[in-house]
Amino acid sequence: MKTRFFFFLLLLVISLPFKAQGNHLNEEILRSRQEFRDAKFGIFLHWGLYSMLATGEWTMTNNNLNYKEYAKLAGGFYPSKFDAARWVSAIKASGARYICFTSRHHEGFSMFHTRYSDYNIVDATPFKRDVLKELADECHKQGIRLHLYYSHIDWYREDAPWGRTGRGTGRPNPEGNWDSYYQFMNNQLTELLTNYGEIGAIWFDGWWDQDQNPDFDWHLPEQYALIHRLQPACLVGNNHHQTPFEGEDIQIFERDLPGENKAGLSGQDISELPLETCETMNGMWGYKIADQNYKSPKTLIHYLVKAAGKDANLLLNIGPQPDGELPAVALERLEQIGKWMHVYGETIYGTRGGCIAPHSWGVSTQKEGKVYVHILDLQDKSLFLPLEGGVKVKRALDFVTRRPLKIQKCKGGILLQLEEVPTDIDKVVELEIN
Ligand code: GLC
Repeated sequence: MKTRFFFFLLLLVISLPFKAQGNHLNEEILRSRQEFRDAKFGIFLHWGLYSMLATGEWTMTNNNLNYKEYAKLAGGFYPSKFDAARWVSAIKASGARYICFTSRHHEGFSMFHTRYSDYNIVDATPFKRDVLKELADECHKQGIRLHLYYSHIDWYREDAPWGRTGRGTGRPNPEGNWDSYYQFMNNQLTELLTNYGEIGAIWFDGWWDQDQNPDFDWHLPEQYALIHRLQPACLVGNNHHQTPFEGEDIQIFERDLPGENKAGLSGQDISELPLETCETMNGMWGYKIADQNYKSPKTLIHYLVKAAGKDANLLLNIGPQPDGELPAVALERLEQIGKWMHVYGETIYGTRGGCIAPHSWGVSTQKEGKVYVHILDLQDKSLFLPLEGGVKVKRALDFVTRRPLKIQKCKGGILLQLEEVPTDIDKVVELEIN
């Protein structure tokens, strides 16, 4: 009897901190967070009716297109070359561990079969195929996680309250009808989390649309609870550009690594949650025909490495074409990143930001007694590595050739001697530490 009571007490004590942080913090979600952190690299796919206009996903509001006229695009949407197996294979070969797909973007068109609106890929287009179902099946088959982007904004629905965007799309009622719209979103989220197998994360966007209206309440806690109830292992993220809210599982940064703010959307404090930065391969999220300004393989790999060095994942975007294919340059980039990951993946997957802080020469990552020094930009053969907190280096190796490298102890760290001035995209040196 006594021991029973003791165990009961122990259980209570163990579960207390989880309760305090919100009661969705069970073992499953904690494992998901960890797996997410380990994954380090995902591919974002922005696909919707906007791909047909080929000027990015904001065209509807940027050009004040009337919502009823815009909706006619659906009647001509026939992505004849869509092949989920080919998408997923190409993405998997890049080394990405998850795909985040726009189930419904700000334009309001559902890229999945929903019962709650006819304005969806099955009921409103001649294509009549549930592309999300095909994608989800393929992801499950090929063993890559699927995350779903879901917009809180809707420039099409009359019940969606107006924010600071989508004001010129001709919808009659600025107030909308919140109860109806909120119910609609929750109904759709229920479909997404019921009909498509295991979903790794729901990725919200658009909270900022009401940032000039401080009294606006998106009723997020109930929505997050719904998600965690339907799939307890499903992560919740929100691209609100703020420090995370209660009930969120990951912290998202847009177009900037944590701690940086070049794009003007970041600057928020960095939380303890797993971090993710999303960035475009060219300059736009949705397909943009005139934008061939793709970042070089080197730039993209550097970004992925720098993200890992800051303990963040990179969610790298591609805008599929209206015909259903991924742009040829994007496919090329996937292949190039994949070749690199094939060799260097060990220094990225499962790591955490390393004990050597990011510098202008590069970053470090770390796992299981090893620090990987990623030298991205160095015009020298020797490099001082600052070491804090009693970290001692036993040995340094060139990660690829496995040849030992000379190190010299000095004040506050070690001096690393390379065989030559590095010219690789990323010269990785493996340090064995105590
Ligand atoms: C922004 C944009 C949106 C895009 C998203 C991706 O919030 O509104 O179009 O989907 O960033 O990070």
